[in-house]
Amino acid sequence: CMVRHYKFNVVLANTSRLCSTKPIVTVNGQFPGPTLVAREDDTVLVKVVNHVQYNMSIHWHGIRQLRTGWADGPAYITQCPLQPGQTYLYNFTLTGQRGTLLWHAHILWLRATVHGAIVILPKRGVPYPYPKPHKEHTLVLAEWWKSDVEDVIKEALNSGGAPNISDAHTINGLTGPVAGCPSQKGFTLPVRPNMTYMLRVINAGLNEELFFKIAGHKLTVVEVDATYVKPFKVDTIVLGPGQTTNVLVTTQQGSGRYIVSVSPFMDAPITVDNRTATAILHYTGTQMASPVSLTAPPPINSTLVATKFTNSLLALNSKEYPANVPTTVDHSLFFTISLGLNTCPTCTGGARVVADFNNITFDMPTVGLLQAHYFGIEGVFTDDFPANPAQPYDYTNTTAQPANLATQNGTRVYRLAYNDAVQLVLQDTGMITPENHPIHLHGFNFFEVGRGVGNFDPEKDPRRFNLVDPVERNTVGVPAGGWTAIRFRADNPGVWFMHCHLEVHTTWGLKMAWVVDNGKGPNESILPPPSDLPKC
Ligand code: C2O
Repeated sequence: CMVRHYKFNVVLANTSRLCSTKPIVTVNGQFPGPTLVAREDDTVLVKVVNHVQYNMSIHWHGIRQLRTGWADGPAYITQCPLQPGQTYLYNFTLTGQRGTLLWHAHILWLRATVHGAIVILPKRGVPYPYPKPHKEHTLVLAEWWKSDVEDVIKEALNSGGAPNISDAHTINGLTGPVAGCPSQKGFTLPVRPNMTYMLRVINAGLNEELFFKIAGHKLTVVEVDATYVKPFKVDTIVLGPGQTTNVLVTTQQGSGRYIVSVSPFMDAPITVDNRTATAILHYTGTQMASPVSLTAPPPINSTLVATKFTNSLLALNSKEYPANVPTTVDHSLFFTISLGLNTCPTCTGGARVVADFNNITFDMPTVGLLQAHYFGIEGVFTDDFPANPAQPYDYTNTTAQPANLATQNGTRVYRLAYNDAVQLVLQDTGMITPENHPIHLHGFNFFEVGRGVGNFDPEKDPRRFNLVDPVERNTVGVPAGGWTAIRFRADNPGVWFMHCHLEVHTTWGLKMAWVVDNGKGPNESILPPPSDLPKC
């Protein structure tokens, strides 16, 4: 195994999109940022130097960080942020992991522009469990605002309402021609006829699930969130923020240019959206002026297209890559997901939108939770996160508002002993509006053993759980007005964040943390903190 060295200089860079220019926070001046390439079991050292006036921290989304929570990155959860001028060396090993992931800033809304791909190749000499592609390409999808992104969220927090949606979507940093800026360039993906390509597609956006499709070409899905799946063919894939999907695309005999489209998916009563980003799949040798083949992207509320994709996902579960689903559970938990309102005298209408698991809106601490846990600092968190919502709790109506929209605030964690098996049912509710929630768990992969629409039935639904080959992920879309059940084994000591990966919902408090440690034996405890760990 190798040690891979990277240097991330966090710097401002003037960047032009949609026919106007603004300074954005970047890594090494690039948008998207540099791709981190390594092999399974390699050690990665990333030296981050913060040259901007914002506090900074970087998260390696989906990297397990076995016993190295100090390198996980979420600000005030596993570390204090790097203040302006500070440096921190993220040091972690890619034990038993290979596939496509992403890195991103994990503080404020800076991940809008501070993000990039992580490509982990299999160990040398180990093939993919599908035919070797002729070539691989990485496609990072994101969102673009004309205004400064930090101003967008600040305004929203001051008013108490929802922030403005993005002005455009991007594919490897480019939107393609859009209304108001027809000269905007798009990304070009060069291909040759009769070849198979692998596309590593990443949703690095802030607040939207995205559809991805290529005119005239089927996509064979082979991997999600850096875990292999049983291959299947579709026209359109859907990715929540933080999710990744590898697809194989076989080119045809022939030539031409084909539109690659990226458009938002929202389970909302919005039917028109003109923010489709486009790239071109270009058969090399074909004149650039030749006709372009276009098939329209799915409308924004195409729930059936999204469901068709997610329902097709199953773990590969081969001899080499078995699905080790916990068959018994030590903790059977039920978390509701809702949006609520808390009083806010200075806000428009006297209230602000908040979000919660089990009616608890998470208060960010001012000291890292991992530090508080490791050094036994009292008064930072309480370990009484409830296993169930407070009763009676009305989530029976997924379309209308229950009477009480208020939530409780707290920095509460749920404590697990090392190696405990957890089953967690995540139930979306109708407070304010039902919506899909891509829930991300740090420190673990989990198996999605069940999902459904409406309310989870604790009697009937578990009988239909798939404990054989459920898909393994790190971020799962809980369907609007429905539920998802996941299982994972707490085989990684530390403090691990769990939150909605729609950044606006994280900001509103849809987050909590798990503490895993019984303090027994070296493999069941976290490693000591590095000496350059930033201080609060
Ligand atoms: Cu990709 Cu806690 O986030």
